Amino acid sequence: MAAYRARASDGVAWITGASSGIGRQLARDLSGLGWTVAASARGSDELERLSAEATGSGGRIVPVPCDVTDAAACAAAVDRIEAEIGPIALAVLNAGTYLPARGEKLDTALFERTFAVNLLGTTNALVPVVQRMKARRRGQVAVTGSLTAYFGLPSAAAYGASKAAINGMAQSLRFDLEKLNIRIQVINPGFVETPLTAKNDFFMPGLMPVEKASARIVAGLQRGGFEIAFPRRLAVTMRAVANLPHGVRHAFVRWFTGWGKRPLKE
Ligand SMILES: NC(=O)c1ccc[n+]([C@@H]2O[C@H](COP(=O)([O-])OP(=O)(O)OC[C@H]3O[C@@H](n4cnc5c(N)ncnc54)[C@H](OP(=O)(O)O)[C@@H]3O)[C@@H](O)[C@H]2O)c1
Repeated sequence: MAAYRARASDGVAWITGASSGIGRQLARDLSGLGWTVAASARGSDELERLSAEATGSGGRIVPVPCDVTDAAACAAAVDRIEAEIGPIALAVLNAGTYLPARGEKLDTALFERTFAVNLLGTTNALVPVVQRMKARRRGQVAVTGSLTAYFGLPSAAAYGASKAAINGMAQSLRFDLEKLNIRIQVINPGFVETPLTAKNDFFMPGLMPVEKASARIVAGLQRGGFEIAFPRRLAVTMRAVANLPHGVRHAFVRWFTGWGKRPLKE
């Protein structure tokens, strides 16, 4: 097990997807705890606003615009942070997108986009940051999955698969990264009130304000356990449902979500 847990005095916290939702709140909370936060997303205007809001909060937030689907841009962002802001002690790779995928209207572009942002966008940022941490023999990285990674849910064929891949990747990398004193964690949120979930027209059990979600993440980063999953009751229930036989689970999810009664949208 990697012994290292990052502290604000060790260097910079890099957050991707920091312009909105969970990443934005986390940037504010970590800067409030005295961290210097390098905040990345594609657009710079929102990052500049976030940076201005953080003035006087203890730490500071420095905008580092970067499209995570561009591997060279991620490597350049890491170079810039390390040269101009400080060594990355903590990386929270949070940028993500949700595009509902329906079986009756399959679209290859939707799968490509989802995997480009959620999975490859994470590895594009992870690889250069781990190279730096490896050289220092210490670091803490959290990648962002979702409770939807536990089993297949309606409309989540692309999103859930990308988040399941994130979980598998983190589990595998943990074996090697722990030898390098790099702690890897996976954040699996349930439903959080952000622009990403605002477009959902279905019941979201355990829907949580973004402030509460960020507080859970901060606590999980400080504790250092492998998985940061919340809300707890939903996570425990989802794990139990995941262990049901396929037929029973499928029937339960179809009933619980009302998906069996939904008309096809061809
Ligand atoms: N909200 C939930 O209920 C929930 C549940 C489980 C997991 N999650 C995960 O938590 C993470 C944050 O979600 P959220 O709800 O906070 O979503 P959000 O409010 O939509 O924020 C997504 C962030 O990702 C950034 N982003 C998107 N594409 C990007 C790209 N190509 N390059 C760089 N940044 C990009 C966005 O900024 P720009 O558009 O400016 O680039 C934005 O800052 C995601 O990984 C999501 O899958 C969320």
